[in-house]
Amino acid sequence: EYIKALHGLTTLEDELSEKLGLKQVIIIPGDSDSDTAVRRELGRAAANVLAQYLNKNDMIVAVSGGTIMANVAEAIHFTQPSVTVVPARGGLGEKVENQANTIAAAMATKLGGKYRMIHVPEGISEEMLGVMVANNSNILTVADMIKHADVLIHGIGQAQEMAVRRGFDDEFVSKLINSGAVGEALGHYCTVEGKNIYITSSVGLHLDDLADVGVVVAVAGGQRKAKAIVAVTNAGGQDILITDESAAKAIQSII
Ligand code: F6P
Repeated sequence: EYIKALHGLTTLEDELSEKLGLKQVIIIPGDSDSDTAVRRELGRAAANVLAQYLNKNDMIVAVSGGTIMANVAEAIHFTQPSVTVVPARGGLGEKVENQANTIAAAMATKLGGKYRMIHVPEGISEEMLGVMVANNSNILTVADMIKHADVLIHGIGQAQEMAVRRGFDDEFVSKLINSGAVGEALGHYCTVEGKNIYITSSVGLHLDDLADVGVVVAVAGGQRKAKAIVAVTNAGGQDILITDESAAKAIQSII
């Protein structure tokens, strides 16, 4: 806290939470893009927020995939055996270690709790997805748990980077970017104003059903993610943002 005050970060936290319309903004000193220690600190700050909110029995935590979420899982230092961890959305085309299912299992293991997974293949049509969900009681149960999660914790990425990471073809990536998509979260690609340009078809949470979730925590740092963070907070539903100094300063200059 002393170091934060010294860097003027507590004032910046208040300024950003007011301007972005969030309950709380937590800023970690430094740049998580260039310093892995800062990434670990982001993870630790998020784990502390989880500890604060996981204060009742039988709570449900929904978690996204991504590398920063792996840091969050790793930083968990408390147990809460009655917790169930679920992926926020199924199958978004990430590498296994970055998939929400994997992170959910890792987090549950740290918490000494349980996890449920969602297995849906990549890139299937809405129609096929509907058939799969309707005929699979496991997916239905987990989907229902996800929609009523007590805590959602998720990452935010640059639209272009995420589209490429998920193997979209060049033409589609260009179309997305030309339409103004700058940020991505939960499979939603949005403009800096928070307009949805494209949503991947999958089971689980959408940005517009976050009102039913207890508390929504986004974790993302690095200067290059500033616009993406603004885009996703403008899209709505966010409560707490955990970020780093380098993203926070860049956000300050664009809002
Ligand atoms: O794919 C899951 C996800 O949470 C995305 O929604 C988000 O854009 C991305 O991961 C963030 O990834 P990272 O933490 O690796 O930057």
